[in-house]
Amino acid sequence: MKVLVLYYSQTGQLKDIANNCLSPLVNDDSVDVNFVKVETEHQFPFPWTRLTFFNAFPESVFGIPFKLKPIQVDESKDYDLIILAYTVWYLNPSIPISSLLQNEEAKRIFNGKKVVTLIGSRNMWVLAQERVKRHLKELKADLIGNIVLIDRNKNLVSIITIIRWMFYGKKDPFWGFPRAGIIQEDIESSNRFGEVLLNRLKQNNLSDMQEELNAKGAVEINPSLVILEKRATKLFHMYGNFLIKKGGFFDKERLGRVGLLSYLLPIGAFILSPITTLSSFLISVIKRKELAAEIRYFKQNSLRE
Ligand SMILES: Cc1cc2nc3c(=O)[nH]c(=O)nc-3n(C[C@H](O)[C@H](O)[C@H](O)COP(=O)(O)O)c2cc1C
Repeated sequence: MKVLVLYYSQTGQLKDIANNCLSPLVNDDSVDVNFVKVETEHQFPFPWTRLTFFNAFPESVFGIPFKLKPIQVDESKDYDLIILAYTVWYLNPSIPISSLLQNEEAKRIFNGKKVVTLIGSRNMWVLAQERVKRHLKELKADLIGNIVLIDRNKNLVSIITIIRWMFYGKKDPFWGFPRAGIIQEDIESSNRFGEVLLNRLKQNNLSDMQEELNAKGAVEINPSLVILEKRATKLFHMYGNFLIKKGGFFDKERLGRVGLLSYLLPIGAFILSPITTLSSFLISVIKRKELAAEIRYFKQNSLRE
């Protein structure tokens, strides 16, 4: 059995997740697992500077593709399963993965294939997955599973620890704040999802396996973060348009507006997040049924028309 893992990981966190999650497959002699890193020609720096980090905002939000380095997929291999492992940038799939999903070669790689998505993000991935679902549908691929690992700390706490990690490369705990990123126990125990994949491959039963994955905790959704994500997306589109009017990614002219965003976005998050926690509590009481239906939808793989 052949499994292709397409991934982009900047600091290595998602690669670590993929290694742990897929270890049951890698360690089984009957499965041939090929890891292929997807990279854009433009290298996004790590650690980021304030301007490079926020300059990636419009292209992430609008899914504007970048040129990719050659994708090292052996197309003569007829893969039984593709694992698409991605991180989220500004509530959308990261630029390298979004570029892959819009690349001509992706049409051949994904056509007719069963796909499982593996997400490693801070805590807001729900709308990014909707975008990925749409791309996979266009590519005529069949999404059969989704596995999500997030930083389970409080939203504002993880914003602070991720900023320090992204801008200074420091993940260690400081001033009473926890270590940045997804906790190691969660990464290590993700092999339980790999066991499900392995059993399904062995049984030759690659039909939708989400329920089985969910029973093991593959997709946990915090309703207040879904409400926050939806609100933020509207603002992101407005601000993205404001930036893009000044030019493309490599245009120096837009950097003034990017600088402004670098202050507005964190301030906005700190104002919006507590307000949303309060209002989502009210929404969860008033619109209990709708919210529950919404969460059920995001926990499965079909695409709302
Ligand atoms: C530019 C940028 C924007 C990000 N935006 C989000 C986001 O909207 N939601 C989220 O949950 N995580 C976000 N993250 C965190 C990433 O999804 C990811 O967890 C982190 O970058 C580590 O991934 P790595 O494996 O590529 O190193 C962002 C990271 C970067 C670099």
